[in-house]
Amino acid sequence: MVSASQGVASVLAPLNGKDYLSSEDASAEQTAALLELARQLKSGDRRIDLGNRVLGLIFTKASTRTRVSFQVAMARLGGQTVDLNPQVTQLGRGEPLEDTARVLSRFCDALAIRTFAQQELVDYAHWASIPVINALTDLEHPCQALADFLTMQEAFGDLQGQTLAYVGDGNNVAHSLMICGALLGVNVRIGCPEGFEPLPGVLDQARALAVGGAQISVTSDPAEAVRGAQALYTDVWASMGQEQEQAEREQAFKGFCLNGDLLAEADSRAIVLHCLPAHRGEEISAEVMEGPASRIFDQAENRLHAQQALLAALMGGL
Ligand code: CP
Ligand code: NVA
Repeated sequence: MVSASQGVASVLAPLNGKDYLSSEDASAEQTAALLELARQLKSGDRRIDLGNRVLGLIFTKASTRTRVSFQVAMARLGGQTVDLNPQVTQLGRGEPLEDTARVLSRFCDALAIRTFAQQELVDYAHWASIPVINALTDLEHPCQALADFLTMQEAFGDLQGQTLAYVGDGNNVAHSLMICGALLGVNVRIGCPEGFEPLPGVLDQARALAVGGAQISVTSDPAEAVRGAQALYTDVWASMGQEQEQAEREQAFKGFCLNGDLLAEADSRAIVLHCLPAHRGEEISAEVMEGPASRIFDQAENRLHAQQALLAALMGGL
């Protein structure tokens, strides 16, 4: 996807100063280049020093992996992060977003934001004069998808024509997998109960972006979704903000647990992925989570490498 003559630096140059609010904000070629840069950073083939840049973290939802991987990524790039959690800033006392975004743009070099509404992120991007990164919204989790496809690439090499099957809720994680997978030429099959499908608009968006004939499909039959797939993926049934629906969702998602029976339907070399945190015995069995097909902890580590690549590209460090 990224030819040697072009090199990752020239492919990624147009991302300098840009926002990453959606998986769609990098082109197919740029997404492949981000994975290649992440691979180089992980292997030690490449080192990047951004020189004292500061990433602000505005997280209105809990986080372990995303927060810590951004903090460590900035440290490895020679920069640092500042915690702008609304509980410790005037945001929590109602200071308007448009003022906050303009002020923070005078102190920071980029913002990573985790919140509920995608529109809030879009508003930050409008008012800020620095790159804004989606660290998860109810609509998308694009940084997660970069790490997920990096993990799949480590297992299988060329991603084009491979199939990733996601079994569970058609949520933020599923949406970014559909879009990012489409850009990378990966077939993405979503297996979810009726009423829990991904948004039709996101399905159309992913299909419109699909490279190399990649198929993006949705089925309510989990066995059909995983049949012959190279990667099986799941996520919690009730996302952050949906805790009150937990019991109802446990009923609706019966039969959608990623267990040994479903794994047996996949490609014999299939790997298992989960963005974490996981609920063993709900969306994934303990046996599959801890079994030989699991790449879940490599996937978690890859958040660091993928985000280092993304930060370097958005902050012009190449
Ligand atoms: N996968 C993920 O985003 O994890 P955190 O919620 O811990 O950041
Ligand atoms: N879908 C989950 C992902 C957590 C990383 C949530 O939004 O809570």
